[in-house]
Amino acid sequence: MCGIVGYIGDKPVADILLNGLSQLEYRGYDSAGVAVQTGTKINVYKAEGKLENLSSVLMQHKGEFAQSTLGIGHIRWATHGAPNVINAHPHTCNCGNLVIVHNGIIENYKELKEELEKNGAKFKSQTDTEAVAHLIAYQYEKTKDLTEAVRIATSKVDGAYALCIMHNDEKDKLIATKRNAPLLVGVGENEYFVASDVPAIIPYTKRAMYLNDNQIVTLTRTNMTLIDKDGNELPQKVEVLPWEPVALSKMGYKHFMLKEIHEQPDIIRNILVGKLRSAETPIELDEVKLNKDTLKNLNRIQIIACGTSLHAAMIGKYIIEDFCGIAVDVEASSEYIYRKTVTDEHTLVIGVSQSGETADTLTAIKQAKAKGSHILIITNRPDSAMAREADSLIPVNAGIEVSVAATKSYIAQLVSFYLLAFYMAEIKNSMNSAELQALKSEMMLVPQKIEQILSHKETIQKCAQHYANTKDFIYVARGINYPTALEGALKLKEISYINATGYPAGELKHGPIAMLDDSMPVLSILMKGSVYEKILSNSEEAKARNARMIALTNSKDEKLKDLFEFIIEVPEIQEYLSPLIAMIPLQLIAYYIAEYLGKDVDQPRNLAKSVTVE
Ligand code: M6R
Repeated sequence: MCGIVGYIGDKPVADILLNGLSQLEYRGYDSAGVAVQTGTKINVYKAEGKLENLSSVLMQHKGEFAQSTLGIGHIRWATHGAPNVINAHPHTCNCGNLVIVHNGIIENYKELKEELEKNGAKFKSQTDTEAVAHLIAYQYEKTKDLTEAVRIATSKVDGAYALCIMHNDEKDKLIATKRNAPLLVGVGENEYFVASDVPAIIPYTKRAMYLNDNQIVTLTRTNMTLIDKDGNELPQKVEVLPWEPVALSKMGYKHFMLKEIHEQPDIIRNILVGKLRSAETPIELDEVKLNKDTLKNLNRIQIIACGTSLHAAMIGKYIIEDFCGIAVDVEASSEYIYRKTVTDEHTLVIGVSQSGETADTLTAIKQAKAKGSHILIITNRPDSAMAREADSLIPVNAGIEVSVAATKSYIAQLVSFYLLAFYMAEIKNSMNSAELQALKSEMMLVPQKIEQILSHKETIQKCAQHYANTKDFIYVARGINYPTALEGALKLKEISYINATGYPAGELKHGPIAMLDDSMPVLSILMKGSVYEKILSNSEEAKARNARMIALTNSKDEKLKDLFEFIIEVPEIQEYLSPLIAMIPLQLIAYYIAEYLGKDVDQPRNLAKSVTVE
């Protein structure tokens, strides 16, 4: 997390930095800061909290940097040190001549700090980053060459970093480097941009170079030089980004989250185009590069992901195992990377990630790749670091998701899993063809069914308001909708801060039932199918403990009225496809509760959209 930007050119720098940071706010919003070269010295401006606070600070000082055309900026998601002004970036050396911004975590900062303090460094903040500022400054005193100082200093650093650095004694220079954190350089006419992500530079240029780990780029107004960690000059691979500048707008909705929920029917339609032409036509999924014989004989898949993507992966497991008879393991990337996994060249490893940058998932797929596995990536960012590691890449094409709480990317990941499962089932001939055709046929109706839910969302809003003041919330389901319960609970936790938990309904009686009383809402996901009656019985058990029962159901069963105090009805759907429908009311419940409570729906506290630290 954290986002960094840099600019060197002939235009006023402050606006470029601020605009860039506003595009990176999804990476954190604990504090923001910029450093600009004023001709005689480098001025640093910082503010706690959201970017608008930094904008106000800059407004008050705008006379001081009107002519500045060189600077760096940062938006922070706090790791080391509280989110206050002192810990906000940019960080400086003792004299303030060297300034840096950093995304990542410096793992050996304590050892570095101890050593640097012996050499006279005076630390002002609690951050890990400040050690790097003093370290580069120390090397600069010896070399009087900023690039060389960065090269030597970063060779002593353990951990992950994307850094942008400037020095008052080298007024026509900006340096950037990275290891295990994203960074790219935008190339303009006599100007260069540095950023953690494309949206920060795309309004200015479509030409860009992605930095690889341990590469160091030195930018002047007219020139760019790229070297490796040993100082050898490298060829520069400037590419044209397949992006158009997009004006991110709420389109009249109160929040991006609500807008993104409403985009879901069209996103599904777009994904299906060219892939699912009709129930009778085989699925076309050219994105999968494994040859058909390998797919036919495949007997092991591992799916790795975090957060919401992990819940999509759990549904992916369910349908791949059921449709294709292939054993699938699903694991949180953060667990996968710290144990001996049985992954080899015969395993298909699927990485799922909205951002394509999540550090744990990226590390996990790199580990699997090193073991010879075929890597299939399902992501909303085909330009991301994970996409660049992929042997097969399925872009989910949900469009930029601004709200930190993932909604449309989740549904798009699910649809991608359905297509993949249908595709493999057809190749393996592992499913009854009438059943498969019925599912494909019904999949084409899903967008319409979601639209029906969205057009009657007042009941859901009413339900949300009814339970908004609860302190806890339980979601239960079984089978294919157990991950839906987990995702419903995650959405509510993230944006309303209510303590919500998802359970397999059958597990309630093994412990959680002890928490039930007349203050506890229990939402049962009761979709018609193989486990309907079982969940009904589990709901009876909860009701017998006086829980406040809510049903999310596609059943018209009259007896539900006695059991549940609130019933949210959704359209009929085949059980296998029901997660696509059941999730929509749960997104809306979370949204309306958070909105009712006056929470910051799109930028909930403590979170960031892209988690680039392990
Ligand atoms: O970009 P990714 O899908 O890899 O991100 C994984 C999680 O950080 C993410 O899903 C997170 O849980 C979201 N805030 C969920 O709404």
